Amino acid sequence: MQFEYYNPTRLIFAAGALARLGEIAGRHGKRALLVTGGGSVKRNGVFDRAVASLKLAGVSAVECSGVEPNPRISTVRRGAKIARENGCDVIIALGGGSTMDAAKVMAAAFYYDGDPWDMIFHGQPDPYVPTRALPVITVPTLAATGSEMNMGAVISNEETREKSFVSTECLYPAVALVDPELTMSVPKDQTAYGICDLITHVTEGYFNGVDGTPIQDRFAEGVILTAMQWGPKAIADGSDLEARAQVQWASIVALNGWVNAGTNGGFPVHMIEHTLSAYHDITHGAGLAVVNPSWMRFAARHRPEKFVQFAERIFGLQPARPDDLACAMEGIDRFEAFLRSTGCPTRLSELKIGDALLAEYARETVRIIHDDQGRLPGWPPMSESDIVDVLQ
Ligand code: NZQ
Ligand code: ZN
Repeated sequence: MQFEYYNPTRLIFAAGALARLGEIAGRHGKRALLVTGGGSVKRNGVFDRAVASLKLAGVSAVECSGVEPNPRISTVRRGAKIARENGCDVIIALGGGSTMDAAKVMAAAFYYDGDPWDMIFHGQPDPYVPTRALPVITVPTLAATGSEMNMGAVISNEETREKSFVSTECLYPAVALVDPELTMSVPKDQTAYGICDLITHVTEGYFNGVDGTPIQDRFAEGVILTAMQWGPKAIADGSDLEARAQVQWASIVALNGWVNAGTNGGFPVHMIEHTLSAYHDITHGAGLAVVNPSWMRFAARHRPEKFVQFAERIFGLQPARPDDLACAMEGIDRFEAFLRSTGCPTRLSELKIGDALLAEYARETVRIIHDDQGRLPGWPPMSESDIVDVLQ
């Protein structure tokens, strides 16, 4: 195991923290680009409260609203233009992962004269890697991606039907201002998809990572067990602040680099899901709920011990041997049943995706990211036909 760990994002986590937005933003700038999604923050009053807090602190704001789920590169271009035209010196993302991701790339695009799509890794040999960005303050309204405290962003190109990522240090937000009260209006289905997303962030490292990471295994199991304990409460009663807070903290820990440090694995389930999202504009967490259990059944045949450990430690199953495949499969069945119990889909048909294009999804996924033998990185690496089998 070897790794280097760095995360400069200041995390402020407290119910009611939104009231501090002006004070925090004022430390970084005087003219903010305020980035929002399709309107939820306007409907629930969060936008007005944010603007009032900024005003009180003497920070003026220009708005870039309408970031769509699976945020588009055209929206990033629009936001960067608004920021430049208005001389913004700080960007505030008020919304879910889509809004935060778009804001992060706008912040880097502010300093880049080329097309921001150059920054998104989409199979081109030499992507432009940004090294400079405006300071970003993330104010998440949905617990899922962990984007508020990581250096990643995922952007779609609606013209080419591609969806991929950029991940580089200048995209770490300066501050993550996390107020779990803001997540209380998230509907049941999005709450469940967020829980699936955060769990998948840690299962990717857990199952695809190198051997010999006992602390990371325990961290990951802690995140999964916490999400499984508190997630259903947050779904049952969206106004349960304690449950909302535990789920949100789990979502941040899951992908701020700490749990997966040193696991050095691929993210095959995510890569496959991103292709499905690019083609069908589905919700990320819902797509993961379909792909992950199926991928697990495929991978368990290659690495049963890790799946036996999962079955034992997450579901309390008693394996007959360390490589007891039946026990591993039972653990995966229980995990899938958990996802179903939260309301997540677990079949492509539930997402209204047929099987006509499975080979194309596989080809496209591998085109974007592959090892030197043309396979999707992970444990085990996947050929195109493996991907088709998993989707089937
Ligand atoms: O757009 P609005 O009107 O705000 O509504 C959103 C949207 O319809 C709604 N919502 C958000 N907060 C709400 C709310 N509705 C009511 N009350 C609230 N408080 O929820 C819907 C989904 O929002 P979105 O931001 O798309 O969801 P999520 O946070 O799951 O983000 C998904 C995006 O993040 C990417 C995904 O691929 C996808 O594009 N990811 C980003 C990652 C990262 N940056 O680290 C990692 C992830 O693995 C993921 O790939
Ligand atoms: Zn994810």
